[in-house]
Amino acid sequence: MKHRIIVIGPPASGKGTHSERLADDLELDHVATGDLLRQHVADHDELGTKAEGFMAHGELVPDDLVVQMLGEQLAEAAEAGVVLDGFPRTVAQAEALRDEVGFEPTDVVVLEVPEEVLVDRIAGRRTCPDGHVYHVTANPPAEEGICDVDGKPLGQRPDDTPETIRQRLAVYHRDTEPLVRRYDRQGVVSRVDGVGVPDEVYPRVRAAVDA
Ligand code: AP5
Repeated sequence: MKHRIIVIGPPASGKGTHSERLADDLELDHVATGDLLRQHVADHDELGTKAEGFMAHGELVPDDLVVQMLGEQLAEAAEAGVVLDGFPRTVAQAEALRDEVGFEPTDVVVLEVPEEVLVDRIAGRRTCPDGHVYHVTANPPAEEGICDVDGKPLGQRPDDTPETIRQRLAVYHRDTEPLVRRYDRQGVVSRVDGVGVPDEVYPRVRAAVDA
């Protein structure tokens, strides 16, 4: 059976970092709603214009906009196997996923990282315009300020400010933890200790999916 993996965790817990590796290893698609939304914002299209303010303030983009954005990608994902990174992150989004395309996860990986570590990761995170992610000490690029993958310049995300991170954490507790409890009742959740450098954490993520 094809894997249908959902990776959940608070901001900067490593969803993007580990989802990308899982997708490479298991030859699955990687769908990251944060990256898709940032692309719409960069394109200044209608969805990007609607989403930008929510993202800048650390709020979730409304469920209907996110579900609409994913559109047919969800049906393809249900069919082909996928790593979903950052979606669903509310109970309503999980219900849309189930009701509209019959998607139920085979694995839900929940990354657990204390808040003080998250704040440090956000301060040190650097990303390229195409979404490749680094950290100035834990996961630096070969050449400072330059993406290893595509040679583009690295920068900081506009929502990686101390004020916004507090709001993003509050939103995680309020809107996403109820979703984790729901998947817990379905018996598909593995909690993974996300503390350490990526090469220490990734084997735990992989073991959770293989179990
Ligand atoms: P999104 O892009 O999903 O942001 P997030 O949930 O806040 O998560 P991050 O991207 O900050 O972190 P991450 O967990 O991917 O960690 P990373 O691998 O980068 O969403 C952004 C916004 O879009 C949301 O706030 C919301 O407005 C909107 N949105 C997105 N999806 C939505 C949805 N479904 N519904 C509604 N709105 C939605 O790692 C973090 C850093 O730590 C990196 O620098 C990394 O190199 C470093 N690091 C250090 N050690 C490790 C380690 N052991 N593992 C991984 N990374 C490590």
